[in-house]
Amino acid sequence: MRNKIIAGNWKMNLDWQEAMELGNKVAAYVEESTKAEVILAVPFLYIPVLSELTEEQPKISLAAQNCSEYRKGAYTGEVSASMIRSAGAKYVIVGHSERRKYFNEGNDVLAEKVRRVLENDLQPVYCCGETLEERNAANHFDVVTTQLETGLFHVNDDGIDKCIIAYEPVWAIGTGVNASPEQAQEMHHFIRELVKSKYGNHLSDKISILYGGSVTSENAEQLFKCADVDGGLVGGASLKAIEFSEIIDAAS
Ligand code: 13P
Repeated sequence: MRNKIIAGNWKMNLDWQEAMELGNKVAAYVEESTKAEVILAVPFLYIPVLSELTEEQPKISLAAQNCSEYRKGAYTGEVSASMIRSAGAKYVIVGHSERRKYFNEGNDVLAEKVRRVLENDLQPVYCCGETLEERNAANHFDVVTTQLETGLFHVNDDGIDKCIIAYEPVWAIGTGVNASPEQAQEMHHFIRELVKSKYGNHLSDKISILYGGSVTSENAEQLFKCADVDGGLVGGASLKAIEFSEIIDAAS
């Protein structure tokens, strides 16, 4: 029913040549027969040139990793959603835990970013997830609920229909400790129920919920088999062409 989506988040890695090489390798790997949709979330700088690749390969789309909460103007150093759109991306990651942690982005700012993304005909990949302390204190469901209710659920039905949600427990990001399939399924199911209570059955059945946090070719299949896990948002493993292609295979 829902197609699997495999998104690679390159974060702040790869210089120009390395990025072109990896983009080309992924594009060469993805074939007509690949069932999953592949998204590459690349540094802003690489969007225009990599969009030439993705134009030839409709199974691959580009995402920005962030955007400004402002529309345009005197905001030195910022990149607007409309620029991202005109450069050739289709998605924008909003609310990654690294943005929340290192750049102090709270749910209210993220709600603005979601608005900018949607008003520019881009699609948000909205991230949520708890820290280890929050999980140990059994607050993880409350934390995720607030992140979604404040940051995302201000959008209307048309808006939510364009969104992807990524559950990325902070304790699993870059640590080599992935959520178990049971933990992932439990939270993904919970998130889908939240979407259902706000937007109804049809939209909650449709929305893709990706898992992120130490996804590798070893654990991908078990995670993607879970009923409410619709693919992955992959960090470190998306920087290695073979490893990433094996993760794509695990979703096909
Ligand atoms: P890792 O796959 O490196 O744990 O990163 C996950 C992530 O943050 C993707 O957005």
